[in-house]
Amino acid sequence: MEKVQAKLEIERLSNELNVHNHAYYVENDSKISDFDFDQLLLKLQKLEEQFPELADENSPTKRVGGDITKKFKTIIHRFPMLSLSNSYSKEEIIEWENRIKKSIETPIEYVCELKYDGVAIGISYKNGKLDKAVTRGDGTQGEDVTTNVKTIKSIPLQLKGDFPFDFEIRGEIFFPLESFKKANEERKLNGEQEFANPRNSASGTLKSQDSKVVATRGLDCFLYGIYGEDLDRKNLTFAHYEAVLKAKDWGFKTPNPKLNYIHKTSTIEGIMDFINYWDEKRATLPFEIDGVVLKVNSYDMQQELGFTAKSPRWAIAYKFKTERVETILESVVYQVGRTGAITPVANLKSVSLGGTTVKRASLHNADQIEKLNLHYFDTVYVEKGGEIIPKIVGVNENLRKINAEKVKYILTCPICNSDLTRKEGESNHFCPNEKFCKPQISGRIEHFISRKALNIDGIGAETIDLMVSKSLIKDPADLYDLTFDQIVNLERMADKSANNILIGLRESTKIPFERVLFGMGIRFVGETVAKQLAKAFKSIEKLTAASYADLILIDEIGEKIAISVINFFLDSENKKIIERLKKAGLQFEIIEKEISSNVLDGKNFVVSGVFTKFTRDEIKKMIEDNGGKNVSSISAKTDYVLAGENMGPAKLVKATKLSIPIISEVDFLSMI
Ligand code: IVH
Repeated sequence: MEKVQAKLEIERLSNELNVHNHAYYVENDSKISDFDFDQLLLKLQKLEEQFPELADENSPTKRVGGDITKKFKTIIHRFPMLSLSNSYSKEEIIEWENRIKKSIETPIEYVCELKYDGVAIGISYKNGKLDKAVTRGDGTQGEDVTTNVKTIKSIPLQLKGDFPFDFEIRGEIFFPLESFKKANEERKLNGEQEFANPRNSASGTLKSQDSKVVATRGLDCFLYGIYGEDLDRKNLTFAHYEAVLKAKDWGFKTPNPKLNYIHKTSTIEGIMDFINYWDEKRATLPFEIDGVVLKVNSYDMQQELGFTAKSPRWAIAYKFKTERVETILESVVYQVGRTGAITPVANLKSVSLGGTTVKRASLHNADQIEKLNLHYFDTVYVEKGGEIIPKIVGVNENLRKINAEKVKYILTCPICNSDLTRKEGESNHFCPNEKFCKPQISGRIEHFISRKALNIDGIGAETIDLMVSKSLIKDPADLYDLTFDQIVNLERMADKSANNILIGLRESTKIPFERVLFGMGIRFVGETVAKQLAKAFKSIEKLTAASYADLILIDEIGEKIAISVINFFLDSENKKIIERLKKAGLQFEIIEKEISSNVLDGKNFVVSGVFTKFTRDEIKKMIEDNGGKNVSSISAKTDYVLAGENMGPAKLVKATKLSIPIISEVDFLSMI
């Protein structure tokens, strides 16, 4: 493709992708399948690789991440990023509103907003293009996290409509609860420490050095303020509410008044209604809020009211009281996970919290227990945050019993008595006895049969525990040696259930390689990494033979994963298990799907050069499988020249002379 043509095509693809991104992430209304979206993105990526000088720094390809930031640059804020004064009682809100009424002339409009619980961000746009995204820092200067912010799909890279030429928009980046849950499920499956809460992990993610990590986490952003010296006031109708809603026309995700995320009122009653509504309904939101924010709407009035040293007089935050209850710590138990990680859990005297009865609370790790200075039978404060399991946030030391015994973290495994280990820099203790410690054995097999791995119907965690305790199984391969009699003789096992288990096991031999690989439970190899490994190496033999250098060449595989994979395949026990699973008929190589259609009906192709994904013969076969015809030389009847690397120059000249489109392997794949 000529450079001029490529430039047009890059622009066309970027616009189309921006429109689809906005429809999906801002409007919640997608008009294209994921597959088609990826194809467009791939096309753009390819063109940008071919013509790097045409690649825009705000191209939709930047959404996927990939850039590494070793150290974030410090940026001085053009407008200081102040904080809000907080209030915890409705009386304080009434006093605030009275103060305002006394200082300026009525009528006054107030804007009620949600107080998103995330990380503040200031994003500047120049001529409609995202220029810089900076964290709050100390309010005067923050860190340049532009590369990471560009991967957040609801933040526009290119604005539309009648946006101001040079302005900054501020908002809150947060972890939607759904994405938070998904991230933690994935971390659990990978044997990684789970995130403690959405707010802290959003903040941690935003400071990640690898923007690819940010791209996969599913962060989101709501915007709540527009700043600029040359803001066209006419355009923004002089007021905050109107300006924020106007930003929607420029492509931003702004709070929806129809969902009562933002509301304009002129009365204190209106303010109280908003506070009461969200105090009661906040648990129904798909993200966390820790209060509401009240602002005077008119920019002129805001200016008149001004600022104190730390915060504006024209705004105030009302913070919800987090429901916190007191109860007694009865005991601490220690759970052993599939990777040997130890999780301390507090058993509590039953107490009602946020509409549910709470009996257990997470204690996370040894440091947390130490920090709380926890003693047995202490009266503890329990809160429910974004986590499913509530947490102990403090101790009422005044009520501590005399001679109360301090909770001391265990030194040995509660199941197998092995000495626990704790690696430097890790917060969890581990039981190193991976071969013989029962919960680790059960955990590995439970992971193997789980829905996203081998999805074996009919067996649950209880049955696995029973089989392990009766020494019927000790690794996943043992499952395939089980006989009907062995299964049916287990407690509470009927003939039908035993049969179902055997059928489930047989069915699992159809599960594709990447899921078998995921099911092996290699530490840090989650679903996505397993897919990448399977795609790159195609078979277990090739993966076993892969060197560290081979592994880190693969997308998303870093040092930690590469070492874990190598160690896994060095272990002779693991090798034996794989051999036995192979004998049982499980899939240990990728079976390339046959693509066939008639989309290329009547089209003549000339294939020339060397290709990266397929051999020339494979490509020729795909052309025929999809209704096309292979011809050996270029003529006026040729529809496409499919060009790989080192295509003969004579062919190139001839194709150009006859204006025959020259397409790449990627173009061809998207055609079929
Ligand atoms: S306005 C001059 N509006 O709360 C004050 N802040 O202390 C400008 N926050 O970390 C802030 N939701 O990021 C404003 N609707 C909202 C907000 C909000 C959350 C955060 C903000 C900052 C803190 C203010």
